[in-house]
Amino acid sequence: MKHVPVLVLVLALVLVLVFVLAPSARADEDAGRAAFEVVYRVLESPRCRNCHPKGDAPLQFDDGRPHAMNISRRSEKNGLPCATCHHDKNGTRPGEPPGAPNWGLPPAATPMIFEGRSPAELCTQLEDPAQTGGRDLAALLDHVAHDPLVAWGWDPGPGRTPVPVSRADTVRALQTWIDAGAPCP
Ligand code: HEC
Ligand code: HEC
Repeated sequence: MKHVPVLVLVLALVLVLVFVLAPSARADEDAGRAAFEVVYRVLESPRCRNCHPKGDAPLQFDDGRPHAMNISRRSEKNGLPCATCHHDKNGTRPGEPPGAPNWGLPPAATPMIFEGRSPAELCTQLEDPAQTGGRDLAALLDHVAHDPLVAWGWDPGPGRTPVPVSRADTVRALQTWIDAGAPCP
């Protein structure tokens, strides 16, 4: 009968695992999914989406129409780099080109498309090294926290609406999502 307390203990432990740890893992995952909704809202907002288009042309304005003057990855190759018009800083009047260091689109081989992606598609894409140019989730977080082109989204120059969630809240949401194991919708 000496074994009974041990059995009871083991049973109790199993119950703890099932009723305490499992729901808390679930709660983490739910928090992770909720945090990804914030990340999605940011990435799909016009200031970010306009440089992450489906096609070769950058987009402009809140409605995401193709860039005027037939600008695309091809115009870069044909001797009209983005930096001809887009300097390190924003123009000072509405209608002047926005600016930040190294203004340009992601490479054609890994175009990092945000335009038109569903939450599930965008999530899977961000976790696929073949589509991120080898960037893992830690590098993704670092990019969003420190890259100057990303920074521009919160300081887009006169006449343009900034990203609707603050940069600090965006970084926090990304961190929560990653800490929860980066669950996809
Ligand atoms: C002027 C164009 C431009 C703007 C505006 C821009 N990006 Fe990017 N983005 C790029 C380029 C270029 C890269 C690729 C950089 C590299 O690989 O080092 C990139 C890469 C990224 C990546 C990495 C994607 C991956 O799959 O790993 C993320 C995330 C990202 N940008 C988020 C944003 C967010 C958030 C905003 C808005 C706040 C934004 N970008 C605005 C040009 C832009
Ligand atoms: C001949 C000049 C010129 C060239 C070259 C050019 N742009 Fe632009 N771009 C502009 C002007 C001007 C605007 C501002 C339009 C406005 O807001 O009224 C603009 C706006 C944009 C915007 C819109 C930002 C927003 O969210 O509304 C993006 C993105 C952009 N350009 C990307 C690029 C990229 C990427 C390249 C290179 C492939 C490029 N542009 C080349 C002149 C140029």
